[in-house]
Amino acid sequence: MSDETTTRQAAPETSAAEAASRPEGAAVPRPAAEREAGGLAERAVLRTEGLRVLYGGVPAVRDVTIEIQRNRITALIGPSGCGKSTLLRCFNRMNDLIPSAAVEGSVLYHGADLYGPKVDPVEVRKRIGMVFQKPNPFPKSIYDNVAFGPRVLGMKVNMDEVVERSLRQAALWDEVKDRLKENAYGMSGGQQQRLCIARALATNPDVILMDEPCSALDPISTNRIEDLMFELRDEYSIVIVTHNMQQAARVSDMTAFLTVEVDEHDHRTGKVVEYDETQRIFSTPKDERTEAYVTGRFG
Ligand SMILES: Nc1ncnc2c1ncn2[C@@H]1O[C@H](COP(=O)(O)OP(=O)(O)OP(=O)(O)O)[C@@H](O)[C@H]1O
Ligand SMILES: [Mg+2]
Repeated sequence: MSDETTTRQAAPETSAAEAASRPEGAAVPRPAAEREAGGLAERAVLRTEGLRVLYGGVPAVRDVTIEIQRNRITALIGPSGCGKSTLLRCFNRMNDLIPSAAVEGSVLYHGADLYGPKVDPVEVRKRIGMVFQKPNPFPKSIYDNVAFGPRVLGMKVNMDEVVERSLRQAALWDEVKDRLKENAYGMSGGQQQRLCIARALATNPDVILMDEPCSALDPISTNRIEDLMFELRDEYSIVIVTHNMQQAARVSDMTAFLTVEVDEHDHRTGKVVEYDETQRIFSTPKDERTEAYVTGRFG
């Protein structure tokens, strides 16, 4: 580890009350559209340099230098335990919430340090939303689920408009517009996952992180989420973790293949083996480990 490498121990979780009392934060870099207005067009929305994540002092992923491109869908693939979720969580500081986790190296968001001292992690998670493997709506109405983020963050918005826009963007509005006050638990799994996407969209993010968003869904719901990702790509940058090779090949523009290396102490550490255009990763990968994985001979 170089002297310049910084180590950040996990910060305690910010309470909803604290978040609500905070004025709409400024300490997060501006999104690309605003920067472009100043003549600073940038392709990368997120960039890691020499990223290493440790749990209880043991490295889980290391040496990750990767650029997530704007308005593209980036897939993270690799065998179980190679650190896909760990890497994904670095992109919106969700590892801060795991007390044993430490993040070293840098993560830049629109060129600015995402872990900088003035950056508010709650503001980060507003701009860089996350959708999980299992749909996790709150035991509240459909409306209140979508309104949750803007309310907690104290966003001064027309809530009816935000709820409708978010549900429309998540391709759910027509199915739920007459039952907004009903409990979200009464929805199908696929609808619940689209509701979680709507909930993430409601805080006006520019990046959506998805950790195996379809693995609990049937093929039809999976198709709908994949179609939705294509639609969202015009406005958002998406990073998706998936175990489904066909899905990665179908939906993503860029693919990172990670694998696990085992050292002499039997420590298992993940690293990125290859990162390229998806079409290249699946047709002419440079590394034989990538080829073995995407052709199903390993993992
Ligand atoms: N909260 C945690 N505390 C301690 N170790 C963890 C924690 N989360 C992950 N790890 C470890 O970090 C390594 C990477 O885990 P991670 O969940 O990121 O892998 P993954 O590629 O997402 O796996 P999967 O495909 O099974 O979801 C594993 O060895 C795992 O045991
Ligand atoms: Mg995972």
